[in-house]
Amino acid sequence: MNTTERGSFSGKLGYILTVAGSAVGLGNIWRFPYLAAKYGGGIFLLVYIILAVTFGYTLVLAETALGRKTGKSAIAAFGDLNKKSKGMGFINAIIPIFIVPYYCVIGGWVLKYFSVYMTGGAMKAAEDTYFTGYVSNVSEPIVWTVVFIAASLLFVFLGVKGIEKASKFAMPILAVLSLIIAIYSVTRPGSLEGLKFYLIPNFNNFSFMTIVAALGQMFYSLSIAMGILFAYGSYMNKKIDMESSIKQIEIFDIGIAFIAGLMIIPAVFSFSGGDPAALNAGPGLMFVTLPKVFASMKLGGVIGGTFFVLVFFAALTSAISLMEASIAFFMDGFKLSRKASCAIMACITLVIAVPCSLGFGLWDGVTLLGMGILDFFDFMTNSILMPIAALLTCIFIAKVVGVKTIVEEVKCSGEFKREKLFTITITYLAPAFLLIILVSSILSAMGFIKM
Ligand code: PHE
Repeated sequence: MNTTERGSFSGKLGYILTVAGSAVGLGNIWRFPYLAAKYGGGIFLLVYIILAVTFGYTLVLAETALGRKTGKSAIAAFGDLNKKSKGMGFINAIIPIFIVPYYCVIGGWVLKYFSVYMTGGAMKAAEDTYFTGYVSNVSEPIVWTVVFIAASLLFVFLGVKGIEKASKFAMPILAVLSLIIAIYSVTRPGSLEGLKFYLIPNFNNFSFMTIVAALGQMFYSLSIAMGILFAYGSYMNKKIDMESSIKQIEIFDIGIAFIAGLMIIPAVFSFSGGDPAALNAGPGLMFVTLPKVFASMKLGGVIGGTFFVLVFFAALTSAISLMEASIAFFMDGFKLSRKASCAIMACITLVIAVPCSLGFGLWDGVTLLGMGILDFFDFMTNSILMPIAALLTCIFIAKVVGVKTIVEEVKCSGEFKREKLFTITITYLAPAFLLIILVSSILSAMGFIKM
């Protein structure tokens, strides 16, 4: 299939907004702030930005170019360029299958909070024990997760256009609202300490985990190593300037994550007195902190409700593209119909999502490699499988198709100012770095080293 048959994006802006719509999601708003709080504040932010503009940029560009060159999804693209490499596409394609379930659990939390604000529960949601009380329920979080799964699957039937429409509508409003909330947060009494913690790198807070967590977050947030960028690349018109589009997508993605951190981290200091335990709250951080911010605001109920519905849209557009990538695994890999692929995906999602949800209550004693169930899937995908997929992609480009092929693909639609940087990174720096991180993550997960 060529790019025209696959249906291309209307133009550069359409492309940027759609890919940014997929990139900006819970990763930026929910995941980034809790990792930044947990792994060192300013130093995490610094490491993250450096990784995103170097390795992240290189990998996004490489995957997009491979997708556009072949006009195919990850599974078919690798095989198309080299028959023996077909299996590599499978590794990329299998990753979103394991992300979708826990993504939907968090999507379910977002929906619940939206419903609480809609029913006048702003004060209730701000109580200290509200979040833990809610997630330890057995059935309610599962019901909201199922609603979120159903909504995502429904949109998957509508195809690219549906995604484009949804994200064009919600994203700019979310960006502006987040900025307003961030300004309010950083001007609260006591938040200055938090602002310093978030913005000023303190090397005493640095640990190896800062790099591991930042790297995993970079993959997750930029939708790298999941076959997603291949798919969008395959829909990308040959005339769209690739280098500048990707730059803008990255700016958007990093920008939203940065603002989300500003919204949440200083507020943790202001509302819980900078207690280190509060910074370590993990996946619940956003749901514990923001309701307190909203409760202290005039019109907080309305603002909170609006915020959660917008986050829902951001999460939904991301979940849709994760689902799309997952069903491509069954459609392209096993020649199944779209309907059958969706049905299989619905089953897998439920089977993994339910334990992830129960891991916060009934099964909170269950650990896998020392982690809770949701954290386990998060760690396996972001810190193990994605570095493996990215490493193989680098090797594939450097050794099999040749860096020149990618460079030519980028150049066919515009300038490639960072060609040298790209070539060195993809050939030497990224593989070496990824290998080191990967080996350390595995050794630490197996308990051989402590990080
Ligand atoms: N990047 C998205 C986020 O930050 C997650 C995602 C990954 C979405 C892969 C689509 C594909 O939430």
